[in-house]
Amino acid sequence: MNDPFDVAVIGAGYVGIPHAVTFAEAGCSVLVVDVVPEVVDRINRGESHIEDISSERLAPLVESGKLRATTDYAEVGGCDAVVIAVPTPLSRQREPDLSIVEGAARSLAQVLRKGQLVVLESTTWPGTTREVLMPILETSGLRAGEDFHLAFAPERVDPGRTDWTTKTTPKVVGGITAACAERAAELYGRAIDTVHRVSTPEAAELTKLLENTFRSVNIALVNELAILCDRMGIDIWEVVDAASTKPFGFMRFTPGPGLGGHCIPVDPFYLTWKAREFGFHTEFIELAGKVNEEMPYFCRSLISQALNHGAQKAMKGARILVLGVAYKPDIGDMRESPALKIISLLRNAGADVSFHDPHVSRVDDLESAPYEPGAYDCVVIVTDHSAIDYDALVDEAKLVVDLRNATGAKGTAAEHVFKL
Ligand SMILES: NC(=O)c1ccc[n+]([C@@H]2O[C@H](COP(=O)([O-])OP(=O)(O)OC[C@H]3O[C@@H](n4cnc5c(N)ncnc54)[C@H](O)[C@@H]3O)[C@@H](O)[C@H]2O)c1
Repeated sequence: MNDPFDVAVIGAGYVGIPHAVTFAEAGCSVLVVDVVPEVVDRINRGESHIEDISSERLAPLVESGKLRATTDYAEVGGCDAVVIAVPTPLSRQREPDLSIVEGAARSLAQVLRKGQLVVLESTTWPGTTREVLMPILETSGLRAGEDFHLAFAPERVDPGRTDWTTKTTPKVVGGITAACAERAAELYGRAIDTVHRVSTPEAAELTKLLENTFRSVNIALVNELAILCDRMGIDIWEVVDAASTKPFGFMRFTPGPGLGGHCIPVDPFYLTWKAREFGFHTEFIELAGKVNEEMPYFCRSLISQALNHGAQKAMKGARILVLGVAYKPDIGDMRESPALKIISLLRNAGADVSFHDPHVSRVDDLESAPYEPGAYDCVVIVTDHSAIDYDALVDEAKLVVDLRNATGAKGTAAEHVFKL
């Protein structure tokens, strides 16, 4: 019989692994639960599959017995607290798909025991913890708030970020009862520097959606201005840089080829869906989604214009290198990446498309090509990974379409560089 663990983290992904490691480094014994045996085996060999956590950081925790992974929920019954960090995607109809949370909850209900704390971290619509998770957990015969504690604490992981970590990013918690919130705050207080309590799980759930909607709306605003700037012949990057000199009342957002990642393109629509139940239309969210979804199409027309004016070439048959395909710099995460849409639009227009990405080896049927910018009719910078020398790229490439302002002042001055 193994010793009981302090914390079980359900879902060994971008959110679960940094949490498990942060708890273990704070001295907690941590059990990681995942349904994928290969993921579990890797963790138990001390190998991290998440870029934000190095194997050098994970391995000592596994070796010392502070962290272990399993596919078996039976062991969760022995843990004091259970943190759920499984995916919350959208369905094909772009409606919330909580089936993974529900599946994890059903497995947990079979082993739930009196006195345990359960916290949901997955991003979701306000009411999920009380209306979806609680009834499933109560099929155990135990009552939330009486026999076990239940809370919601939204995740704020930003893959690739190093200035703020799981430990230093404040954690918001809301419990089904005050005692539930207290217990959750105590758990996170063991590993995370600052815990901010709100009165209900619904307030905590909406906090996360406000944060992500804020980003989506502001990105849409600057994307719309980028399209207008193209017509007016004004450099949007110069304008954003200038506005950013204001020390108050302005926050910098930059235009780009569209939204990417698991969160910003997806989460706001969880709120849209729930709002309908109240006869309410979240118009900012819908409009932001519309503007942001249009960006790959606008970028395709920019590329077409650049080929036309910069190389007297048609899109059909042009050899195009898409540089950077991950959804943001310096990571390999492809989820919802706008590069996927851009590649498919360029291919549909008859272009001969290759890609190069130092962090991604394959996209569908394409393998990352060697980095030879001079060998293409046009290089399109979709994601500005820091491993690329953009000054050298401007010298080597025949034609560049820069959707990220990666080429800076040198690109602005060069006639063969076309910017968003
Ligand atoms: N990735 C981010 O940057 C980020 C940031 C903030 C919030 N979130 C939210 O956190 C949640 C988790 O996202 P993620 O990016 O970590 O997902 P992920 O896909 O990286 O990882 C989820 C893991 O859960 C596992 N899993 C699936 N079903 C399971 C089950 N029934 N039991 C146990 N494990 C199961 C999967 O195998 C996978 O390893 C989502 O709701 C997401 O919106 C993610």
